[in-house]
Amino acid sequence: MASTAAIAALALVFFVLLCVRDGGGVDAADTLSQGQSLGANDMLVSANGTFKVGFFTPAGGDPGKVYLGVMYATSNVQTVMWVANRDAPVRTAAGAASATLTGSGELLVKEGDRVAWRTNASAAGRSNHTLTIRDDGNLVISGSDAAGTDVEWESFHHPTDTFVPGMEIALRQTNGDRTLYTSWRSDADPATGDFTLGLDASAQLYIWRSQGGKNSTYWRSGQWASGNFVGIPWRALYVYGFKLNGDPPPIAGDMSIAFTPFNSSLYRFVLRPNGVETCYMLLGSGDWELVWSQPIIPCHRYNLCGDNAECTADDNNQPICTCFTGFEPKSPQEYNNGNWTQGCVRSVPLTCSSERNNTTAGGAGAGGGDGFTVIRGVKLPDFAVWGSLVGDANSCEKACLGNCSCGAYSYSTGSCLTWGQELVDIFQFQTGTEGAKYDLYVKVPSSLLDKSSGRWKTVVVVVVVVVVVVLLASGLLMWKCRRRIKEKLGIGRKKAQLPLLRPARDAKQDFSGPAQSEHEKSEEGKNCELPLFAFETLATATDNFSISNKLGEGGFGHVYKGRLPGGEEIAVKRLSRSSGQGLEEFKNEVILIAKLQHRNLVRLLGCCIQGEEKILVYEYMPNKSLDAFLFDPERRGLLDWRTRFQIIEGVARGLLYLHRDSRLRVVHRDLKASNILLDRDMNPKISDFGMARIFGGDQNQVNTNRVVGTLGYMSPEYAMEGLFSVRSDVYSFGILILEIITGQKNSSFHHMEGSLNIVGYAWQLWNGDRGQELIDPAIRGTCPAKEALRCVHMALLCVQDHAHDRPDIPYVVLTLGSDSSVLPTPRPPTFTLQCTSSSSGRDMYYRDKEESYSANDLTVTMLQGR
Ligand SMILES: *[C@@H]1O[C@H](CO)[C@@H](O)[C@H](O)[C@H]1NC(C)=O
Ligand SMILES: *[C@@H]1O[C@H](CO)[C@@H](O)[C@H](O)[C@H]1NC(C)=O
Ligand SMILES: *[C@@H]1O[C@H](CO)[C@@H](O)[C@H](O)[C@H]1NC(C)=O
Ligand SMILES: *[C@@H]1O[C@H](CO)[C@@H](O)[C@H](O)[C@H]1NC(C)=O
Ligand SMILES: *[C@@H]1O[C@H](CO)[C@@H](O)[C@H](O)[C@H]1NC(C)=O
Ligand SMILES: *[C@@H]1O[C@H](CO)[C@@H](O)[C@H](O)[C@H]1NC(C)=O
Ligand SMILES: *[C@@H]1O[C@H](CO)[C@@H](O)[C@H](O)[C@H]1NC(C)=O
Ligand SMILES: *[C@@H]1O[C@H](CO)[C@@H](O)[C@H](O)[C@H]1NC(C)=O
Ligand SMILES: *[C@@H]1O[C@H](CO)[C@@H](O)[C@H](O)[C@H]1NC(C)=O
Repeated sequence: MASTAAIAALALVFFVLLCVRDGGGVDAADTLSQGQSLGANDMLVSANGTFKVGFFTPAGGDPGKVYLGVMYATSNVQTVMWVANRDAPVRTAAGAASATLTGSGELLVKEGDRVAWRTNASAAGRSNHTLTIRDDGNLVISGSDAAGTDVEWESFHHPTDTFVPGMEIALRQTNGDRTLYTSWRSDADPATGDFTLGLDASAQLYIWRSQGGKNSTYWRSGQWASGNFVGIPWRALYVYGFKLNGDPPPIAGDMSIAFTPFNSSLYRFVLRPNGVETCYMLLGSGDWELVWSQPIIPCHRYNLCGDNAECTADDNNQPICTCFTGFEPKSPQEYNNGNWTQGCVRSVPLTCSSERNNTTAGGAGAGGGDGFTVIRGVKLPDFAVWGSLVGDANSCEKACLGNCSCGAYSYSTGSCLTWGQELVDIFQFQTGTEGAKYDLYVKVPSSLLDKSSGRWKTVVVVVVVVVVVVLLASGLLMWKCRRRIKEKLGIGRKKAQLPLLRPARDAKQDFSGPAQSEHEKSEEGKNCELPLFAFETLATATDNFSISNKLGEGGFGHVYKGRLPGGEEIAVKRLSRSSGQGLEEFKNEVILIAKLQHRNLVRLLGCCIQGEEKILVYEYMPNKSLDAFLFDPERRGLLDWRTRFQIIEGVARGLLYLHRDSRLRVVHRDLKASNILLDRDMNPKISDFGMARIFGGDQNQVNTNRVVGTLGYMSPEYAMEGLFSVRSDVYSFGILILEIITGQKNSSFHHMEGSLNIVGYAWQLWNGDRGQELIDPAIRGTCPAKEALRCVHMALLCVQDHAHDRPDIPYVVLTLGSDSSVLPTPRPPTFTLQCTSSSSGRDMYYRDKEESYSANDLTVTMLQGR
């Protein structure tokens, strides 16, 4: 009964919809033709019913004034996205409101016969104008001429206070165009308010405040670095797909900020009348949920503490202003009374000498010269001068030291940023928070550094010596005791040291021991610092690790699909017990992944260590891995070019996070199609950090005794000499791009085109201007060739033989997203790594110097045919 009624109701709705759509004329709901008018009570509604346009009176506002606006059609409360005549309301007492599209394609808002507002869009020589409200909320006037129909005017280019997907915050240096968002005067009055948000040539967002005819900076986002703003570190925001298009500094050409939500929810960013940028999401119920709001604590106010000072928020978010070391308040009395406008000035002038040119970096020079104090975890100052993307922290320090007008530098964004003498708008993040990853080095005379460290040095030396002696003694004692206990129990110790990760803890762990005391078991559990799952829970969740739940075979064990009692789906990686291997990889993965969180990395939900069982629990990825699509003749068609490009970009962003943003500098070392998982919306997530290693701060290339990875994806220097660096990941990434574009496995290549590998093959075609033949036939017809060829070009840069020729990931991310910058020409590949797996070949590739790793260990690690 119920279902029949439902079907009948559905049919009725469908019928009604059909009638409406076929009605024609003004009833066509979303379009007004030229000559037609919209009355005070008429509405145009977008095709899928999301937006409507018509006259409104703001809630709580003057009922005598009406405005033409674009509104959300499905929200419970009146939600205005755009207002036409915000400063020229129609006064209903003086005349009826109407909106007319003229024969020349101009939209007029009228009060009776008087024109209150007009679009000023002149379209000489065009005809058949229409006004359409689109599904994304854009109100568009188009018209036709001999060449076809084109958009003549659109509301997205004339925003009010709301920023939605499809809009831009743009700055076009070439023609001076700029999209600015201006707040309402109050919630009940859409007139132009005090606050304006826009993008600046430094690729920073600003909110300006105009008060009494004066325009002052109210807030600043901080520099755009590696996919987010230095001053808005909250990752959650970038989850909504914020992107800077165009050429940011150092090029500083045309730029725009856009955001593309990763699901179909409706989001809007509003610059509120109080100057606070806020993001809301429309729920299915028609209510709005607050997603994000710009922090409103005083320290975020632009340069609250004045020049050369940092602002720290106390427990009540009240500002504490402190001059930098080497600076003092310009007017101590005012400053101490809380009037910080004059800021701080140098207490001792810089010597501006280059005596320290040839002393080692970092140490305070002995007498004379200038040095640096470091201020950690800050929103970097305004007015940065961008150096080039190449170089390192040392060359950046040198550049600043050798330049008398340089007052500070920072290399934490991966570029060399320098500042002049005044340092403006510095906010100190709380240590340990997401934002606390940018460090500022402020130049001060070395004499100051010495004074403050002279007495300290002695104290520090004494303390260090005492601590070291105590540690050594206790370590020796513990080691002796432990050995005695072990001997008593008859447990042999396997040499499984993990030099780079937490050596102190490692000493008391021995996961591989066949029998362990209860005490040790609980010790291990604590080390996870993660939700711990009971083995029984996971066994139940995966139906006792049944074959039917198996998702695949990873490097060191099997992966199963599971369902927790609450219904949540999980992926369970159970490390192989029999091989006795993977111990290191396991610990690596747990410690690393727990720390690494990014939308393009697979999230670790927890772990389980019980006896010999070592299990990792991940979020479940319904679409499995990239190779399951790419190399499957049936499913590869599902990956259109847009999706493929999104995957390339997503992987690049994940790598960027691993290489730079995570602060740990993680090299993945086994990047490949089967390690790229896809979520419900086909967003890529990098998985399997088992082989990643943590780099120390300054190391950028490490020689490893163990070569792990997958043939075909390994860079020459890694495969041959065991040298790995972030640039070896770049190489693997280049191979991955080629696979994504060609839809061919790199390992399938030695059967084709003679004995060329994928690199040689791609180079040959690309160099011979036949690059288009590389594109997967499944998408060749529909894919924009220019974009695809640009990716091939980038891939060929990434797979260059010499690590130092390859671009770094920040460069890749920067240039992939902009089509205007010119890519350098890649060098031709000379070395082509063959994918033969003969044992003699292997001996050449791998060195095993350390006896603790058996040869067996190496081969198993190597020969995962994946
Ligand atoms: C149209 O032009 C007039 C006069 O130049 C100006 O006052 C008005 O603000 C313009 N309208 C829009 C929507 O730009
Ligand atoms: C309508 O279209 C817009 C833009 O394409 C989309 O974001 C929205 O989800 C659609 N709404 C519905 C109800 O289909
Ligand atoms: C305008 O519309 C009319 C009627 O639909 C059509 O005949 C004419 O070709 C159109 N003009 C242009 C320039 O598209
Ligand atoms: C306010 O002033 C700043 C700098 O003086 C300028 O860049 C900005 O464009 C101005 N804002 C507006 C809305 O005029
Ligand atoms: C989109 O994502 C948000 C945040 O995860 C979620 O709250 C919302 O329900 C999602 N919307 C849809 C349509 O899935
Ligand atoms: C703070 O100091 C500045 C400059 O000395 C002065 O112009 C301003 O009036 C002072 N503000 C207050 C609130 O005293
Ligand atoms: C460092 O510079 C000084 C002069 O400032 C020079 O005398 C000295 O030889 C230099 N040392 C080295 C190792 O270059
Ligand atoms: C120190 O470096 C600067 C800039 O690189 C250079 O001009 C200067 O000659 C150097 N001084 C010495 C003593 O090497
Ligand atoms: C010196 O540093 C200032 C501030 O960072 C910068 O504007 C200037 O271009 C630099 N000069 C040279 C020669 O690099």
